[in-house]
Amino acid sequence: MRAAGPSARPALALLLLLAGAEVSAAAAPPAPPLFNVSLDAAPQLRWLPVLQHYDRDFLRSAMTHIIGDYVPPWVLALIRKVVPELELFLPQPFTDEIRGMCDALDFNLVDCILLNLAYEFSAFCTSIVAQDSKGHIYHGRNLDYPFGSFLRNLTLDVQFIKNGQIAYTGTTFVGYVGLWTGQSPHKFTVSGDERDKGWWWENMIAALFQRHSPVSWLIRTTLSESENFEAAIYKLAKTPLIADVYYIVGGTSPKEGVVITRNRGGPADIWPLDPLNGACVPVDLRWFRVETNYDHWRPVPKGDDRRTPAIKALNATGQANLSPETLFQVLSVFPVCNNYTIYTTVMSAANPDKYMTRIRNPS
Ligand SMILES: *[C@@H]1O[C@H](CO)[C@@H](O)[C@H](O)[C@H]1NC(C)=O
Ligand SMILES: *[C@@H]1O[C@H](CO)[C@@H](O)[C@H](O)[C@H]1NC(C)=O
Ligand SMILES: *[C@@H]1O[C@H](CO)[C@@H](O)[C@H](O)[C@H]1NC(C)=O
Ligand SMILES: *[C@@H]1O[C@H](CO)[C@@H](O)[C@H](O)[C@H]1NC(C)=O
Repeated sequence: MRAAGPSARPALALLLLLAGAEVSAAAAPPAPPLFNVSLDAAPQLRWLPVLQHYDRDFLRSAMTHIIGDYVPPWVLALIRKVVPELELFLPQPFTDEIRGMCDALDFNLVDCILLNLAYEFSAFCTSIVAQDSKGHIYHGRNLDYPFGSFLRNLTLDVQFIKNGQIAYTGTTFVGYVGLWTGQSPHKFTVSGDERDKGWWWENMIAALFQRHSPVSWLIRTTLSESENFEAAIYKLAKTPLIADVYYIVGGTSPKEGVVITRNRGGPADIWPLDPLNGACVPVDLRWFRVETNYDHWRPVPKGDDRRTPAIKALNATGQANLSPETLFQVLSVFPVCNNYTIYTTVMSAANPDKYMTRIRNPS
């Protein structure tokens, strides 16, 4: 037995090492699938190649679950009545994209539209825009959703292609045509976090009839149409919406980072990186902005403080060490990343190829 000792130990060490490697490989968060969607194809047809990769029964049961989880039955009944009329008011190309997918899957159009108006997908989120010591801008986000097990398998990165070029990139769920996370290459990046003001349903339908935009559709419209960071901020700040929200935007040049706090009708607050008039703000606090789901000028509720841990982790990282990798680490700290986190995306408009999404808590 004694003789076995010395030789067994390295073997054991190797075994542990291998086991450790296996564990960390298994724990490394996986990337979602990446698809191209052609904007040159008709809206009704452009998502069909993506759908071919998914099982229809799985999509149907996911849809049923999500609708059942988040839509109060009375709202469902009401919306089922008004959607046929609403359809005329909903902006393109979104409505035709939804119709195209819904037809292909033989799903109820009203339910497909309803699912696409879902707002709670960003219920508990953290977005960070930050600038390193050299002036590079990085933008990261965690998307959290409490009933998320289905959403993990529906998450995908999409490159929207126009004339053979990537017009913009985004992360979404199969069948959901809006974007909560996206990047216009060499221009800007955007993420959206829910700003819960209670009964957002109450006025949503009225707002839709007034042709206000769904919150995630405006992100996509902005990625598609805005020529630069300032134009994006203008559009995201001013366009009437069906619900309140926080838009977090990163650009390509120093100081191009901002948190826009939105009311339905317009901006409630614009909070840029490195404010010129921020003399009372400690200098080293200005290189990042953290937005979860609460107005930044108010304290966060004790029961849901993801803001302080994120700021602590950014403080500990330090501006000089900021990179896509360290930003990802900050977004991995509990409870910034938690059991509800569906995915993390880290992006930088100046380096569009570095766009990276990872699925959290995969089953
Ligand atoms: C998601 O996909 C994984 C791998 O294919 C599978 O094991 C898991 O059951 C799926 N989860 C759901 C909720 O369908
Ligand atoms: C997506 O489109 C881009 C630009 O045309 C192309 O370079 C890339 O190979 C395409 N990727 C896939 C997965 O088809
Ligand atoms: C982060 O650092 C700043 C500047 O040193 C400090 O004022 C602030 O309290 C720190 N925040 C946290 C949450 O550690
Ligand atoms: C998160 O999930 C893990 C594994 O299911 C569980 O052990 C843990 O208690 C959960 N944590 C919280 C804060 O809910």
